Amino acid sequence: MVDWNKIRKEFPVCEKYVYLNPAGGSPVSKSAAIEGKRFYDEMLEFGDTYWETWLERTENIRQNLAQFIGADKEEIGFTTNTSHGMNLVAQMLKNKGAMLTMRDEFPSTTFPWLNQNSEIKFVEPVHHAYPIGEIEKELTSDIKILVTSYVQYSTGFRQDLEKLGKLCNERGIIFVVNATQALGIFPVDVKKCNIDFLMFTGLKWATAGYGIGGLYINKKWLKPDKFPFAGWRSVNEPGKMDNLDLDLKNEASVIESGCPHFPNIFALGGALNMFKTIGSENVVDRVLFLNRLIEKRIRALGIDVIVQEKDIHRSGILIAKISNPKEIVGKLMDRNIIVSARGEGLRISASIFNNEDDIEKLIHALKEIL
Ligand SMILES: Cc1ncc(COP(=O)(O)O)c(C=O)c1O
Repeated sequence: MVDWNKIRKEFPVCEKYVYLNPAGGSPVSKSAAIEGKRFYDEMLEFGDTYWETWLERTENIRQNLAQFIGADKEEIGFTTNTSHGMNLVAQMLKNKGAMLTMRDEFPSTTFPWLNQNSEIKFVEPVHHAYPIGEIEKELTSDIKILVTSYVQYSTGFRQDLEKLGKLCNERGIIFVVNATQALGIFPVDVKKCNIDFLMFTGLKWATAGYGIGGLYINKKWLKPDKFPFAGWRSVNEPGKMDNLDLDLKNEASVIESGCPHFPNIFALGGALNMFKTIGSENVVDRVLFLNRLIEKRIRALGIDVIVQEKDIHRSGILIAKISNPKEIVGKLMDRNIIVSARGEGLRISASIFNNEDDIEKLIHALKEIL
């Protein structure tokens, strides 16, 4: 049994706020903050003499992240955010053919492709969902790449990656997943799902804060001539520093190019340790429980919601359909209740640091405001 009160203490922000916005920007966990801070403490005291220790720590975290998503260590690169990862992928796949994606993706998913004039086609949602059959209908012979979010930011629809990956595999389509609105909470096994590329930011459900993202590159794409940029640490022997020998390594870390952003990587490491300790099944159950509870309580107010009924498509996000969401967000903020205005209303998201009390406080405030 998980002691959720203890987990909540990992997030001191909960003492001040009813924080129902991890889909926007999550608070960091203490586990993450301590690791980030440790780096600065070490650098204050020891300068750069910890370089080797920090590199070693970075590699351990790479291994942990790989394990977290069912990848191999060599397939993981650290980035700064989702857009960073998506840009790299869009450049790597520049000449592969047309790309199909979902109509209401977050622009980090689409702008990197638009920016280089890739041909993009969209799947339209059906009742705020993207059924595999609808996607399949749009997979015309010119489509070579499928890009989707695991969880959609403006509806909370969660895609069945295993089924979609199977379809891509059968059709020889390159499968790219933006896992930003899921990573940390909803498990993903990149091999089982036949994913070619996956990226995320640590800012949201991963609770690792700003400045850290991850990029998974399936081994079959790890060919040095495919990488769009390089730096002194992209080669097999960075210490050699031979300007005539661009001996690029066959690992996803090639994209890190120069000195690592240690504090952010370490914060992610701390966050991953916390999730590992709680256990994936517990995390999923908790977030789905809270999401269902929010749905029930919002519906009881007579407000319609956008949410998926089936657990497999449900996430930590729910939209309460109200007409003036921005105004309501402000009024809730005045009461120290944090949500956001997205899609067709108020986006309410709840994570492992929330509890039933938070939800009752939100409902009470909404009753007063509305
Ligand atoms: C699905 C999705 N991807 C990416 C982002 C953020 O992009 P980035 O990490 O590039 O800042 C968001 C933010 O709301 C998002 O919802």
